[in-house]
Amino acid sequence: MGLRTPLIAGNWKMYKTCPEAVNAAERLTGLIPEGLNVEVMIAPAYTALFPVADVLRGSIITLGAQNLYWEAEGAYTGEVSAAMLKSAGCSHVIIGHSERRQYFAETDEAVNRKIRAAVDASLVPVLCIGETEAQRDAGETFAVLDKQVQMGLEGFSLTDLEQLVVAYEPVWAIGTGKTATSAQAQEAHQYVRGVIEKGFGEALAAGLRILYGGSVKPANIRELMDQPDVDGALVGGASLDPDTFIQIVTYQNKIV
Ligand code: PGA
Repeated sequence: MGLRTPLIAGNWKMYKTCPEAVNAAERLTGLIPEGLNVEVMIAPAYTALFPVADVLRGSIITLGAQNLYWEAEGAYTGEVSAAMLKSAGCSHVIIGHSERRQYFAETDEAVNRKIRAAVDASLVPVLCIGETEAQRDAGETFAVLDKQVQMGLEGFSLTDLEQLVVAYEPVWAIGTGKTATSAQAQEAHQYVRGVIEKGFGEALAAGLRILYGGSVKPANIRELMDQPDVDGALVGGASLDPDTFIQIVTYQNKIV
């Protein structure tokens, strides 16, 4: 495997009841080919984590949550801690998804505390960043990415971030059918890798996986993955159907 093994992650968002999630996970495990040179992660809703973990046992597919709360425990009605996710079978957790920033007022400070909780619990944090359409139009893309990375990772040591994964998800491309061009993705990923290099050194930056997210589909994954700084994908809509998602996961076998 190369320096950066590709990671294809499925974010199921607020879709699928427990039986639906178990069924999709069962179908997906049956579709994974032998000797796949790609890591695969799925992130079902909280309620489906524990039953899906059972399905994934013995498969190469890893389990992620879509969020966490940073406190260890306490009177925080409706929240879920890193230890709870661990105990449900998670190895990964998505943090700072744009839908959380947009609809649940998640700030960069909150994102920072959530990453701390993930790191302390040995969960792999998948830090999501990305600019809105208005920010891109105003020429602020790099400034936004810079701020989200700097604030999200402020106060962390090199060893803290060994497992870190970053997902670049331009907000205007999420669920809209508008994918960033592979050139736009490469430009942003290269920039983010540079920000990490400045903050944490070349070794961490060189090994960091940066996923692209935003309307990834079987038809565009290959071109995106051909970019030198695109190391995987965070897939929403197209991850819900195992028959579609497996085509993304096995992109290397696709003849284009
Ligand atoms: P999408 O979502 O693939 O449906 O655009 C991606 C994401 O939000 O992670």
